[in-house]
Amino acid sequence: MQYAKRSVRDTDLEGKRVLLRCDFNVPLKEGRIQDDTRIRAALPTIGYILDRGASLILCSHLGRPKGQVKPELTLAPVAERLSELLKQPVPLAPDCVGPQVQAMAEALKPGECLLLENLRFHPEEEKNDPAFAKALADLAEVFVSDAFGTVHRAHASTAGVAAYLPSCCGFLIDAELKALGEAIDQPKRPLVAVLGGGKVADKLGVIDHLLDKADTLLIGGGMAYTFHKALGGEIGKCMLDREKLPYVKEMIAKAEAKGVKLLLNVDTMAVKEIAPNAEYIVCPANAVPEDRESADIGEKTRELFAAEIEKAGTVVWNGPMGVFETEGFAGGTEAIAKAMAKCPGVTIVGGGDSVAAVQRLGLADRMTHISTGGGASLEFLEGKELPGIACLPDKEEA
Ligand code: 3PG
Repeated sequence: MQYAKRSVRDTDLEGKRVLLRCDFNVPLKEGRIQDDTRIRAALPTIGYILDRGASLILCSHLGRPKGQVKPELTLAPVAERLSELLKQPVPLAPDCVGPQVQAMAEALKPGECLLLENLRFHPEEEKNDPAFAKALADLAEVFVSDAFGTVHRAHASTAGVAAYLPSCCGFLIDAELKALGEAIDQPKRPLVAVLGGGKVADKLGVIDHLLDKADTLLIGGGMAYTFHKALGGEIGKCMLDREKLPYVKEMIAKAEAKGVKLLLNVDTMAVKEIAPNAEYIVCPANAVPEDRESADIGEKTRELFAAEIEKAGTVVWNGPMGVFETEGFAGGTEAIAKAMAKCPGVTIVGGGDSVAAVQRLGLADRMTHISTGGGASLEFLEGKELPGIACLPDKEEA
């Protein structure tokens, strides 16, 4: 089973030097952290490890520097935020490997911590280079992985390093695997999956996998229009992935064969051009005028989807219903968030835009689980093996 992994609780950390991989890939603007959710999400594991009298070496990537040192992608702002949150100094090492870093790691006293500089300043990180993974491992005696947002990457710090040290997962990965795993494999039924976002190609794997698991699939956002086209609809200037049309037809047939209720949006707010507060008409989603495209789902769809969501035993949501970042067209995405907040069942939100919508509405604490992983949670829903999880020992082996 992919999601019952040895956790920090099953591992002897007393007085050890621990390497903790976190996902501190936070949004930055002019060197300032815009949202520290991912840093806060790591705090329970950090606190637990420090309380065991261990010394802690934290590491993460930030952005995509492509193996080069990019000063604007230093983890310095993260070190500063961590020291504030932990109320103790968190010095930033000048690099993530090498003699100086090794000396800093070895000098740590129980309860002290150190943050390594951006792992992706080294090309070896993304190549999962064994020598680089070993150099990271040499800094510590135990490896704890808690970077859920990055477990779909087979990198040195997410996968390779586990070959060289006793390894386990932290509380964040544990909670993510439990929530997502149960939702998909032991859901309270009916299991309703809500999928949105622009590109149908990004979600086909998820749809395919969910057709084996879910009772109802609700599809909105730009991706819905390749479905409408496949069913013979007129979709105007809406997004169409012509190449995927045969595959989409296959999915429609699969849903029918499996008795899965596949519901597309029935109406749309169609605009001539996506722009803040653009003039729109509401029309059937399969009869969009030639010169218009969809900016959001319409009222009828909101009601239809909300009714399915509110009676669900479990809801899993990934992807916005329209261009929710554009003023005037967030209503459909917000309607999903509100319906989920009303749902008495298990509610799980993944993906940056859906999570942002829930947070903006102040509904985060009304959800059962908000995933910290965009790509990672999507690959989980696709049923793919996640390298950063597969490399960890199963719980039974502990
Ligand atoms: C994310 O933000 O989704 C993770 O940190 C992974 O980042 P990446 O897509 O650059 O690997």
